Amino acid sequence: MKILLLGSGGREHALAWKIAQSPRVDRLFIAPGNPGTAEVGENVDIEVNDFVRLKDFVITNGIEMVVVGPEDPLVNGIYDAFKNDPQTAHIAVIGPSKSGARLEGSKDFAKAFMQRHGIPTANHRTINHQLHDEERSFIASLTPPYVLKADGLCAGKGVLILPTWAEAQAALDEMLDGKFGKASSQVVIEEFLDGIECSVFVLTDGKHYLILPEAKDYKRIGEHDTGLNTGGMGSVSPVPFATKEWMQKVEERIIRPTIDGLSEEGIDYKGFIFFGLINVKGNPMVIEYNCRMGDPETETVMLRLKSDIVDLFEGVAQGDLDRREIVFDDRAAVCVMLVSGGYPQQYAKGHPITGLDQVCESIVFHSGTAVKGGQLVTNGGRVIAVSSYGKDKDEALQKSFTAAEKIHFEDKYFRSDIGKDL
Ligand code: AMP
Ligand code: GLY
Repeated sequence: MKILLLGSGGREHALAWKIAQSPRVDRLFIAPGNPGTAEVGENVDIEVNDFVRLKDFVITNGIEMVVVGPEDPLVNGIYDAFKNDPQTAHIAVIGPSKSGARLEGSKDFAKAFMQRHGIPTANHRTINHQLHDEERSFIASLTPPYVLKADGLCAGKGVLILPTWAEAQAALDEMLDGKFGKASSQVVIEEFLDGIECSVFVLTDGKHYLILPEAKDYKRIGEHDTGLNTGGMGSVSPVPFATKEWMQKVEERIIRPTIDGLSEEGIDYKGFIFFGLINVKGNPMVIEYNCRMGDPETETVMLRLKSDIVDLFEGVAQGDLDRREIVFDDRAAVCVMLVSGGYPQQYAKGHPITGLDQVCESIVFHSGTAVKGGQLVTNGGRVIAVSSYGKDKDEALQKSFTAAEKIHFEDKYFRSDIGKDL
């Protein structure tokens, strides 16, 4: 089979690494890919939102399956663009329809969906104008801090958590005035939930689902979860508090009602659902949905997936995921992200990266790299994800930290406390 994977980050390198291991694959293309994906497949210089050129490439090259990595093309309707075109309607697209991608593309839609289906989440109101009395009294009922979320996609920057109402009100006004453009023309304000977060992933054909290995992400830039939010500084799988009993609650209260809800509402959904959960006194609640895999969670989840991922994707496309088997690797997997100094704010690009050839006990996934004049250089905030297996997370972490010290680029930074809180 010929497969086209869309995206260019560490998540896509990890997906490409896993897809390339399948005996079903004849050729794997990645658009636009990165220097890491070029090691396991063939990069194609087309942007993920250029549907016209993507369709053209797919038709010309006899591609049978398109796997969508990032949320942007999904929210923009790539699934529908392929399905509604007679020339591409037969191609399997792994990713939800535009309607399904609203689970991530609109926080207001996601909150209302959870309310309709009794899925546990923080109480909220959606504000899109001057505050009404009912909204004022909801806000008065909240205990600080205040959680504000831009309704639309903001590349992970649309959530603000503020300690006082005075600060929250000022931030709310700025958001409604266009701080995040159209994405914050509506703002969700919700209860603050206190607990530890866990990322749970399923693959669904719209009716059946398989639960993938769970992972914990480390979002803050500083050690001990301090400083600004980032795209993710590392991940660990399995997550100790995600016991069989806890995962059973997740499945009964969250996963099944979500899949059934999508189906009842006639929403076409064939792809990944990422449940951003928080454990509140032993009970899982939904912080957010994403319509794709997590990054850097994929860099550990793919290590722990033993099954042939292409077989699972075929199950998604053919609607018989209930007849496919998912097998986990019993070992632990961790990922430590090497980032550019200054990230998530200003940082430099173009610093030479060396030492990758010295890494022998870890798997190196490229996140933000490029090749300039034959030299591998930094090309983003998150540069390299160092993933490792271990008999337990401590052994895996030891390997990732050893490798992290062998890889060099100017102003390299990584969190040395990944997994230590578990
Ligand atoms: P998001 O961009 O939706 O992933 O949110 C960013 C982060 O904000 C989450 O990973 C949580 O750490 C935090 N967050 C979002 N909503 C809440 C909430 N209701 N209570 C506490 N923390 C939250
Ligand atoms: N690691 C969080 C995300 O991918 O959104």
